[in-house]
Amino acid sequence: MTTTRRHVEDLQTPALLVDAAAVEHNLTAMATALPGRRLRPHVKAHKSTALAHRQAAAGHRTFTCATIREVEGLAAAGLGDDLLLANEVLDARRLGRLDARVTVAVDSEATIVAAAAGGVREVVIDVNVGLPRCGCHPDDAGRLADLARSRRLTVRGVMGYEGHVVGLADRAARVQLTAHAMQLLLAAHAAVGGDLVSAGGTYDCNVWATEIQAGSYVLMDTAYARLGLPFRQALSVLATVISVSPAYAVADCGLKALGMDHGNPTIDAAEVLFCSDEHITFVPEVPSRVGERIRVWPAHVDPTVAYHERLYVVSGDQVVDAWAVDLRGW
Ligand SMILES: Cc1ncc(COP(=O)(O)O)c(C=O)c1O
Repeated sequence: MTTTRRHVEDLQTPALLVDAAAVEHNLTAMATALPGRRLRPHVKAHKSTALAHRQAAAGHRTFTCATIREVEGLAAAGLGDDLLLANEVLDARRLGRLDARVTVAVDSEATIVAAAAGGVREVVIDVNVGLPRCGCHPDDAGRLADLARSRRLTVRGVMGYEGHVVGLADRAARVQLTAHAMQLLLAAHAAVGGDLVSAGGTYDCNVWATEIQAGSYVLMDTAYARLGLPFRQALSVLATVISVSPAYAVADCGLKALGMDHGNPTIDAAEVLFCSDEHITFVPEVPSRVGERIRVWPAHVDPTVAYHERLYVVSGDQVVDAWAVDLRGW
């Protein structure tokens, strides 16, 4: 989606801004570190086919998805060379209908039966590597692979999401726990076979996986910024100060415009007190004024983006493009 050039001041707030130069930097930095198929970008972080096209142009033509809607949207956008739904589904019929290469994660007999019944041809065995979420016990992976093959499914390998590790600011702890998680995944892979050993976002220290499903790197958030990775904060929410009191100011960017599960967002030269539905209350270092525009830096990119319909791409104070957040929904 393109837009006629306009100034950020003209945007209705709250508005999601993407810094054009920072995104380009992040795309290049990641494509240099993990070229081509070494990265399977996770689109859950941005939910935008426009941004997925840029990741493809940077050399990554395989993608990770979290929802059926994301798989469908990428396929419709001509990005269906190799799509992994890294999540369990119990009705795979929409996946089976797609004109794209679709692989789905399975971790139980029920999800294997659903994949086969839905017309999906390829699966990976999802292995629990320490995060209490989806994934089978590593010792059960071989049995599930045999079961999937008995249902005429091709087993491409294993995936294991080390989500309990990716956010650790202590790099030594991150390296150590990634190694442990990947030992579990490789043990499962030995029993499963296949070409893929697909892991989550520990891109800087994971030397075991054949591919990394990183997503946040391209837009970034303040939680990831703590890790000292070579990516720039590209995403902010533009807000307008709507009320000023002697002790604090209030802007129009609240819980309905921000993912808050990683804590409060930040505002430069200000202390954020709290967010409510439509408001953020903060203490600025220098007095604010009603009508002032501010940038709010989200703590968690994925749920923040999912609240918005479009990403306004900015260069300085100019809006140079607008990308639809067109992979929302289920
Ligand atoms: C299955 C899976 N893989 C990979 C990721 C990595 O995402 P990110 O790089 O945004 O942390 C996630 C994030 O939630 C995920 O759920």
